Amino acid sequence: MAEDEPHDLDRGLTNYGDRDFARFLRRSFARSLGISSSLFNKPIVGIAMTPSGFNNCHRMMPELVEAVSRGVLAAGALPRPFPTVSLGEVFLNPTSMMYRNLMAMDTEEMIGAQPMDAVVLIGGCDKTVPAQLMGASSAGLPAVQLVTGAMSTGRHRGQRLGACTDCRGFWSKYRAGTVDAQEIAQVEGRLSVTAGTCAVMGTASTMACLSEALGMSLPGTAAIPAVHSDRLVAAEESGRAAVRLIETRITPNQVITEKSVENAIRVLMALSGSTNAIVHLTAIAGRLGIRISPERFNEISDETPVLVDLKPVGQGYMEDFHAAGGMGAVLRELAPLLHQDTVDIEGRTLAERLEEPLDWIDRSIIRSFDEPISPVGGLVALSGSLAPDGAIFKRAAATPELFESDGRAVVFTGLEDLSLRIDSPGLDVEPGDILVLQNAGPHAAGMPEAGYLPIPKKLAQAGVKDMVRISDARMSGTAFGSIVLHVAPEAAVGGPLAAVRNGDRIRLSIKEKRIDLMVDQEEIARRMADFQPPPSPSRGYKALYRRSVTQAPQGCDFDFLASDFALGRRKWK
Ligand code: FES
Repeated sequence: MAEDEPHDLDRGLTNYGDRDFARFLRRSFARSLGISSSLFNKPIVGIAMTPSGFNNCHRMMPELVEAVSRGVLAAGALPRPFPTVSLGEVFLNPTSMMYRNLMAMDTEEMIGAQPMDAVVLIGGCDKTVPAQLMGASSAGLPAVQLVTGAMSTGRHRGQRLGACTDCRGFWSKYRAGTVDAQEIAQVEGRLSVTAGTCAVMGTASTMACLSEALGMSLPGTAAIPAVHSDRLVAAEESGRAAVRLIETRITPNQVITEKSVENAIRVLMALSGSTNAIVHLTAIAGRLGIRISPERFNEISDETPVLVDLKPVGQGYMEDFHAAGGMGAVLRELAPLLHQDTVDIEGRTLAERLEEPLDWIDRSIIRSFDEPISPVGGLVALSGSLAPDGAIFKRAAATPELFESDGRAVVFTGLEDLSLRIDSPGLDVEPGDILVLQNAGPHAAGMPEAGYLPIPKKLAQAGVKDMVRISDARMSGTAFGSIVLHVAPEAAVGGPLAAVRNGDRIRLSIKEKRIDLMVDQEEIARRMADFQPPPSPSRGYKALYRRSVTQAPQGCDFDFLASDFALGRRKWK
């Protein structure tokens, strides 16, 4: 840190003509926190903490904050925890996605507005880590990302259960009538049995791994279970690391680079991770002016094997992944494909990390590069007349027989229409049809995880397990099926998705990476002539959101927050 740069308690002093008075006032109020001035003369590490009575995934937050604080104090600095917005996935309406940008803004502004020299970010549940990385990237202060860790599994009649892939599996059986009401009630109490994030390679676990792949978390910390003692040791170490960052001044823009983002995409493919991670990674990278094209995304997907055998695509759970060798093992297998000159928050290159020996790899969970689960990555970027700006397909979670499909559209005009008609006995739907959901994109609905359309009850009861489903929504990272997501432009801004009518033919080709509406352009233009966007909220955050949210290929960030640095509107501190 430069000698003349304001630091610790003197950072960001107000200056209304008498700066010394502002300093005097702040120190006097700091005293009322009950902390000695000798401690307040030390460097300060902020701890962005996110406990909430509405966030089960962050139940361990008090212990984590204590452990981070211990590490900061032991390394000679003063820890100062502060709260930000917390987003508990299942407790937010209409969708947690709508509030990710709010949390990112809160995180950025509180890092910038309060006197701290570095920050430890503690998040876990789906949107929290992306929000924290977005905010910290824009704030430009040295930062360490710590995650809360994944849940451990429960048991039901001898079967391991983990939220929330098994929630969906059991619920599908209940809908199909093969699990009764009594059993589903038992399962409800056995799915989420510890603190921590969902137990599979869902969005939270994917983002934890990508944070480590980017270099923003300490090596080896992504997969430690929430209730494992190593999670607290990782927290303590993260506190120490933040103090080292005060000296090294390594800022997020030095760690999150085009190369490290490409590495993160490779890891995403090898993990067969969540489709949501693409939106979040795009938003994080977009804060730093980094963009990966769909063509490059598909190149990476086609070159990168799937190595990790976890639900929702495979068999294992996050606790198995940790015991199997975790991210260290995955990075070593991918080494020939990775940019090894990227640096992490410790200033260490990836090449240096990869030189360290690993003790053991469980090959039933983490395969070798030469014997992968699949030779190609789990995710594909699509384009075509139905999605001119792109769409995403998780081929690893889909039925290969549906990869090349040509079917009749069965259209739902929105979430309400879907819930009213999907199980109607009179619904005109056949097993080879393609279900289409409109108006569930970022503008229309905040882009909820509605893309996992249920199989219509009458087909589910007849034994249909999968159908092609298309929407401008997202899908939970714990879900699976032949599902086209993130169609852009979305229906609510006049994308071709809005023009689809019942009975239209839609063609999906994973081989060609295309999704096409087989209706001629003149007919599409005729249908769209009287297009009306849905009414906008008139006040508050929702009005700001509607005005400013970008489409999925831009990460659904706010247009006034993305690429600030790339446009030169702001300089690094
Ligand atoms: Fe928080 Fe799944 S509900 S990670």
